[in-house]
Amino acid sequence: MTSANQRDLPIGIFDSGLGGLTVFKELRRHLPNERFIYLGDTARTPYGSKGKETIQRYSLECAQFLQTQKIKLLVVACNTASSFALETLIEQCSCPVIGTIDPAVRQALSVDTVRRVGVIGTKGTIASAAYDQKLRSSGRSLEIFSKACPLFVPLVEEGLYSGNIVEQVVEHYLSELKALALDALILGCTHYPLLAPSIVRFLGTHTRIIECSKAIALEVEELLEQRQLSRVVGAAAAESERYFVTDDVDRFNYLASLFLEKRPVEAVHVEHLSVA
Ligand code: DGL
Repeated sequence: MTSANQRDLPIGIFDSGLGGLTVFKELRRHLPNERFIYLGDTARTPYGSKGKETIQRYSLECAQFLQTQKIKLLVVACNTASSFALETLIEQCSCPVIGTIDPAVRQALSVDTVRRVGVIGTKGTIASAAYDQKLRSSGRSLEIFSKACPLFVPLVEEGLYSGNIVEQVVEHYLSELKALALDALILGCTHYPLLAPSIVRFLGTHTRIIECSKAIALEVEELLEQRQLSRVVGAAAAESERYFVTDDVDRFNYLASLFLEKRPVEAVHVEHLSVA
């Protein structure tokens, strides 16, 4: 049995920056009774161009920091961290941990007719082949095409979601994939849903765009119920969302609040994530 106190604890979420807010937004919409703590490791973004050991270390530091804030569940809202560090995080964390890869793959394969699947992500995620392995292990007969799109994350972190520059970068990375007439394209980076309108405009409507946030929200809901960790409706009012970042607070507050539909965001700056 879990105590009322445990049910009342927040869900921790981390990403290298703004991208994980695409997951946070869906979690908040789907689980309005829950409390959340979001950590954006903005001082060290992007993760996608770093090596495996670095990403594992950063991810562990993010997880340790969130655990010191007392959380009941950790959502790794970063595909790069999920590709390289999920197993280590599951081993090291005292709470359950959910990553991005399994939910996104489940979502992609939820339609039986899907055969030709594209995966786009950071250099790290694509090099790790985490998506390829997971898709292949489904046993379905699939053709998989992967492509790293390293300029997408800096565009999003700059608040550039549409316009000429974005259209050109989208065309630069996705022309080859467009020619393949994919059934589905997995946005294997949590920053990319912010560019989805430009991506859809370029690819056309034949290709289903898959992103992990809805599937993660369902998985979180299920896990909370299984472990009797769902926050009780009508529980005493408590701060429902807190934000931490490792770099400039004002910029994050501005962009995050725009993305979260002008809800005020007041992030707290964290100097050192490492608590070791
Ligand atoms: N949003 C993250 C991901 O899903 C990280 C992107 C980055 O920092 O390169 O991979």
